[in-house]
Amino acid sequence: MEQLMSIAIRPPAHPGPARESAAMRRNLASCLLSVAVQAVLLSAGPPRAQATDESGYVGSSQCVQCHREIAEVQLESGHPLTLRRVRSISRLVETAPLEFSDPRNQVAYRIERSADPEFTLDLVASRDGVADRMHLLWGMGAGRKGITFVGMTDAGAYGQSRVSWYQSTGGLDITTGLEDRVDNAYDALADWMSPPQREHCFACHTTRNADLPPEKMAPASAGVHCERCHGPGQEHVRAMNRGESDPAATIGNPGKMPAIEQLYFCGACHGAPPGGSDLHALARFMVDKEVSRFPAQRLVLSQCYSESRDQLKCTTCHDPHESLVQTPAAYDSKCLSCHGGDHAMASGCKVAASQCSSCHMPFVEGFMTHSEFADHWIRIVADKKP
Ligand code: HEC
Ligand code: HEC
Ligand code: HEC
Ligand code: HEC
Ligand code: HEC
Ligand code: HEC
Ligand code: HEC
Repeated sequence: MEQLMSIAIRPPAHPGPARESAAMRRNLASCLLSVAVQAVLLSAGPPRAQATDESGYVGSSQCVQCHREIAEVQLESGHPLTLRRVRSISRLVETAPLEFSDPRNQVAYRIERSADPEFTLDLVASRDGVADRMHLLWGMGAGRKGITFVGMTDAGAYGQSRVSWYQSTGGLDITTGLEDRVDNAYDALADWMSPPQREHCFACHTTRNADLPPEKMAPASAGVHCERCHGPGQEHVRAMNRGESDPAATIGNPGKMPAIEQLYFCGACHGAPPGGSDLHALARFMVDKEVSRFPAQRLVLSQCYSESRDQLKCTTCHDPHESLVQTPAAYDSKCLSCHGGDHAMASGCKVAASQCSSCHMPFVEGFMTHSEFADHWIRIVADKKP
């Protein structure tokens, strides 16, 4: 546990953006963090002397046995489902074939049944009478907004699909960040990834083994499962089976972290706040609306965070085991825990008594295809004045 915490608060490294192409960078501003992510999370949890499997991971099926209520809810939520075998996304398999055309680049796209029994669906791109094909292996994103595919060609190249499926339209469109011009069918299929780029891409969508070739990734490693946040569970399972009384001695719990440590912990995937004196980063986090995609980076700009003296955490408002709650009224009690009543730590609102987040955390859109993000910089937003 101690080690889990001390690893988690290490401020993020700032790997230089120069290594990625402009498209990668736009699509995946998040990528810039992934070196820190790997350091923080893939190694989470102390090395354990008694462990027979040196990794110490047991898989979430073990946790289910004793934590059934949490596991049942968690397994239906975005974290574990964020990376799935394409064949298991029945909604998609049932609606295939799906078609889309990109007139600007004169490319016709089609997701269709694969002739190769090893794969379920293929993406085909046609241009100038030439068609190229990629087998779809993994769907990235649980689908609340969209799903991007990672696939491979018969020649063994891996790529991130240039078209994604979007929830709001129920169809395909160009993947955010890959809008650039393409001039042949092969490049129209995907943003082709080298092994380090692939690992980057999987880093925040897996529990472990992000470096494996995509076709070798086990379903238990794909998606954000229990041990990604709690650390390897082998010693905990043994201790609980032996009837030991102190669970916290053998398993990590990010809920017990002070606010700043938890912001870095969740922020390893959701956008880590800037290190102490990084004023350039801070300035960018204030003016760049795309940063709304990264809750931890915006939350620390809020008076609610700074003036509550380390009391506002991600878990103040979210149960990380649940699907995202999308009714503003459900968050009112969280706001009022500080802003309500006679002994409140903070002032009340003269304008309204409910639906607080709808005015003070408005959705920001227009920087990612068919997506909007709640702005976690809680404040009086000028254009929300009634
Ligand atoms: C043999 C039963 C058993 C298994 C298997 C098990 N746990 Fe536990 N765990 C317990 C008990 C009992 C507690 C203490 C009561 C509680 O918090 O539910 C506990 C507590 C916890 C806590 C809270 C620790 C704290 O800070 O208080 C976490 C987190 C946790 N378990 C995670 C896991 C994860 C992750 C797995 C799978 C790798 C797992 N458990 C597997 C029995 C088990
Ligand atoms: C290993 C990376 C990782 C870590 C660590 C992580 N998350 Fe996430 N989180 C994700 C990804 C990826 C998604 C997108 C899921 C999807 O595809 O819809 C997500 C989605 C979410 C959602 C939306 C859930 C939904 O069902 O739509 C919430 C809320 C959330 N995370 C909160 C947290 C909190 C709080 C923490 C820290 C306790 C945390 N996350 C830690 C990667 C991570
Ligand atoms: C630094 C961590 C990180 C990396 C690296 C990363 N992601 Fe994500 N991704 C997230 C988080 C967190 C979310 C959920 C919040 C959001 O949508 O930004 C997410 C959401 C998504 C979603 C949308 C899910 C939905 O419906 O809301 C897709 C699609 C996606 N990622 C694809 C990718 C692809 C493709 C790559 C690699 C090229 C990648 N991600 C790399 C952290 C990451
Ligand atoms: C995205 C990170 C994340 C994942 C994935 C995750 N947990 Fe947790 N878990 C947390 C956090 C954060 C808390 C503390 C919640 C709080 O204090 O509000 C927690 C708390 C717990 C507790 C303590 C009891 C409680 O309700 O606070 C148990 C037990 C637990 N988790 C088990 C699991 C199991 C089992 C799984 C997989 C089925 C799992 N967790 C997956 C982040 C995660
Ligand atoms: C952990 C306690 C805490 C929580 C939870 C919290 N706040 Fe705050 N908030 C504060 C403190 C402290 C201040 C600064 C003192 C004040 O304004 O009275 C503040 C300030 C504000 C301000 C004024 C900001 C400004 O720029 O003038 C707004 C608006 C606000 N909070 C709205 C919210 C909303 C909406 C929620 C729920 C989504 C929320 N707060 C949740 C503690 C909290
Ligand atoms: C309809 C939009 C709207 C809703 C809903 C709303 N507010 Fe406000 N809130 C505002 C506006 C506008 C102001 C600025 C008022 C002013 O400058 O006189 C404000 C001001 C505030 C302030 C600063 C008060 C001060 O005196 O500095 C806080 C704190 C606050 N709101 C919290 C909340 C909380 C908590 C809720 C939910 C119970 C909430 N607001 C609901 C629009 C809203
Ligand atoms: C004061 C309450 C509050 C806190 C603290 C908070 N969130 Fe949120 N979060 C919200 C609200 C409200 C939404 C919008 C829900 C909706 O879609 O209606 C949201 C949405 C999200 C989403 C979905 C992104 C999107 O807009 O699609 C993610 C992921 C998320 N939060 C992660 C986090 C993480 C990680 C932290 C800690 C760094 C955090 N949140 C802290 C209230 C909060």
